[in-house]
Amino acid sequence: MRLDDVPAAERVSDEGFFELDTRMRRVSEPQASRRSDVHRATWIERTSHFVDTDPGGCWVAEDDTGIVGIATSFRRETLWCLATYAVQPDRQGQGIGKPLLAAALTHGRACTRGMLSSSADGKAARVYHQAGFELHPQMYFHGTLDRSTIPVVEKVREGSASDIDLMDSLDRAARGAGHGPDHQLMIGAWRLLVSDTTTGSGYAYLNERGQVALLAASNRRTATRLLWAALADGPDQVTLHHVTGANQWVLDVGFAARLELHQEGYLGLRGMKLPAPYVHNGALL
Ligand SMILES: CC(C)(COP(=O)(O)OP(=O)(O)OC[C@H]1O[C@@H](n2cnc3c(N)ncnc32)[C@H](O)[C@@H]1OP(=O)(O)O)[C@@H](O)C(=O)NCCC(=O)NCCS
Repeated sequence: MRLDDVPAAERVSDEGFFELDTRMRRVSEPQASRRSDVHRATWIERTSHFVDTDPGGCWVAEDDTGIVGIATSFRRETLWCLATYAVQPDRQGQGIGKPLLAAALTHGRACTRGMLSSSADGKAARVYHQAGFELHPQMYFHGTLDRSTIPVVEKVREGSASDIDLMDSLDRAARGAGHGPDHQLMIGAWRLLVSDTTTGSGYAYLNERGQVALLAASNRRTATRLLWAALADGPDQVTLHHVTGANQWVLDVGFAARLELHQEGYLGLRGMKLPAPYVHNGALL
């Protein structure tokens, strides 16, 4: 993938995930929608960042109609992460996806750990399992926050680029590798909350919709404090993605806040345990 491929890659990804959301949607859920302009711009900025930091990890499949499939991945220290993986809906199940993933995996061959967030698509789960990833179910909370349940939250402040060393240390404890240059990207796009006391430290990013996009902490108490702070400052309609079974502290908070628990997709891991206390990001993990 080259930088000038990114807008066409975005269209393949949007079509792939729109078709998947339409196919997987439960009757009780809102109708699948196409990406908003803001979401599209975020996707393009993030993918351009990966093409920039990891040109060898980002691949397209094309024929004479143009780009029909994409896979973007990156290495951070000894960790390989898959950011996005999609094939145009009318071309799926025809053998385009597997070689794309194989190309991206080659970029991570010197890495001892691997991480990806899988959709509920049966083809995706199948190829990740074949590639040696353990699949761990992901849960998510959704619903209207009951503000009367929010406790008094102290010792949380706004973060900045001067917190990157601390955040990289927390990332290494949780997933074996710092986010490195991805912190610069996230600080530029999102709001950062930090808690750093004598008993523990942690951070949380809130995305452009005010929802938790990534959270890491040295202990559950600090993680819980950050999650409440994030909920208190966010909108009434909450979606909290990427909760794994190793992070039951999120269930304590989500149920206390009277949100509804659901399941979607898997966290795929290779050479590592489930990170905790940690709420991963779907693309930046
Ligand atoms: C996941 C995805 C990228 C795979 O690409 P693809 O071109 O469809 O995959 P391939 O044709 O290479 O097939 C992959 C495997 O799935 C199998 N497969 C094909 N159709 C299938 C189906 N309907 N159900 C389950 N498995 C199926 C294939 O046989 C192959 O396995 P095998 O080699 O062991 O036989 C693509 O299907 C996609 O874009 N899905 C929607 C978006 C998505 O979920 N992306 C993953 C995000 S984490």
